[in-house]
Amino acid sequence: MTDFSDKKNILIVDDIPAFCRQLRQMLNRETHAARVCTDPAKVPAMLEKRPYHLVITTLVMKKMAGFDLIRKIRGSGHSVPIMLITGHGSRESAIEAQRLGVSDYLYKPVAPRELIARVEKVLGQNGSEVERMASFKLDKLVSNDPAMKSIFDMVEAIAISNSRVLILGETGTGKQLIAQAIHSLSPRKNEPFIEINCAAIPGNLLESEFFGHERGSFTGAVDQRIGRFEEAGGGTIFLDEIGEIDYALQAKLLRVLEDGVFSRVGGSRMLRSRARVIAATNRDLRVASQKGDFRADLFYRLHVISLRLPPLRDRLADLPLLTRYFQDKYLPPGHHLEFSQGAFKVMRDYGWPGNVRELEHLVERLCVMHPGKLVREEELPDYFRQPGSLSGQSAPEHLSFREAVNDFEKRYLEKALDLHHGNMAAAARHARMDRAQFFRLARRHGLDTKRPRRAAG
Ligand SMILES: Nc1ncnc2c1ncn2[C@@H]1O[C@H](COP(=O)(O)OP(=O)(O)OP(=O)(O)O)[C@@H](O)[C@H]1O
Ligand SMILES: [Mg+2]
Repeated sequence: MTDFSDKKNILIVDDIPAFCRQLRQMLNRETHAARVCTDPAKVPAMLEKRPYHLVITTLVMKKMAGFDLIRKIRGSGHSVPIMLITGHGSRESAIEAQRLGVSDYLYKPVAPRELIARVEKVLGQNGSEVERMASFKLDKLVSNDPAMKSIFDMVEAIAISNSRVLILGETGTGKQLIAQAIHSLSPRKNEPFIEINCAAIPGNLLESEFFGHERGSFTGAVDQRIGRFEEAGGGTIFLDEIGEIDYALQAKLLRVLEDGVFSRVGGSRMLRSRARVIAATNRDLRVASQKGDFRADLFYRLHVISLRLPPLRDRLADLPLLTRYFQDKYLPPGHHLEFSQGAFKVMRDYGWPGNVRELEHLVERLCVMHPGKLVREEELPDYFRQPGSLSGQSAPEHLSFREAVNDFEKRYLEKALDLHHGNMAAAARHARMDRAQFFRLARRHGLDTKRPRRAAG
């Protein structure tokens, strides 16, 4: 008896019967169970009848365009992988295919061997749609961008070393995930991963946070406290927003990096640190050190290996992928959002100053407010369609200077609040502003400072 356990059901949809037969022959020779359907309108019903592992279709058909068929399939909740074979490919259709989550895209004519290899590849990836879509993966990160791939390769190479790493990149580009990846791929992975956000802790308390303190060493130091460097043991210590620590503490940090020793605040005993230090910043430390805001010697100590994460607007191939990735996070299995072409274009053109985090928050909001519905341009926040004020372009000429500043101020605050789900303290920190000052300004601009913000429009 033949063993059918590996036999995969494949549905071939094309209105040219001869082409369908040819494909079916190629696939069935490889012991797949390929069926043919020359009427795309019947596909949803066929998918209801039996489980298919793959649908192969084409772009141009008389009764229904391939993309419409794909939308229909997805619209009826099927997440079956889809492959496109076309004789009419263009860059636009390749982008559209990617947007719709097509697993593979082939051009006619297709050689039998090529077809089999690509089909096996798609069938072999029996994980989630995101896994099928992502060309590159590292720990919890996914990407389709070649520059990110070089970073992933570098992370794999440096993880096993003890070198210090400085991670650079705009806010929300994934610096923290990279730091975590370095740790979890390193031999230190079973030791602690300790993270300190240097900007979130007031300057006068940061030293004790780093190194601990002895009882009575300052007002409020009622008990002895173990610092984070001690806690980290032989693990990894991640100093986020390192650019924010003050000059005096920089000297003490330099000492740990140079000699591996530190002492608790108010203590005289020398303690030894075995932790690996990874630092991150979205500031240009070289410039800061030239201006005298950051110690040059510390900068060079930290800068042994540096990784610069590109902003999201420079890796748009990640946009459909990450959009899907976050949907999987916020929607129940089998559900997903669909974006209109217009909405997707607006998203491609938008500057994403908050990068991946901003995208995550947007997708989360859409998942809550528009589950199962088509996301149209209008569903995106207003400022997505007003390029300029926050994406680095010049202020509009028709406004007076005052008006332009006002306009910018409002959008900036709105943006900061959006990025942090309406959390004032976090938004103020993000803006590096005093909380009270932030609150006053936000109120002056009529922004809702109480409830979490929702998408405009
Ligand atoms: N390539 C990626 N794949 C999946 N998720 C990502 C990726 N990059 C970033 N994220 C997600 O985006 C969010 C922001 O990432 P992260 O916190 O690492 O950014 P960051 O650079 O440290 O930001 P900040 O400078 O504001 O601290 C997180 O929720 C993270 O999980
Ligand atoms: Mg971070």
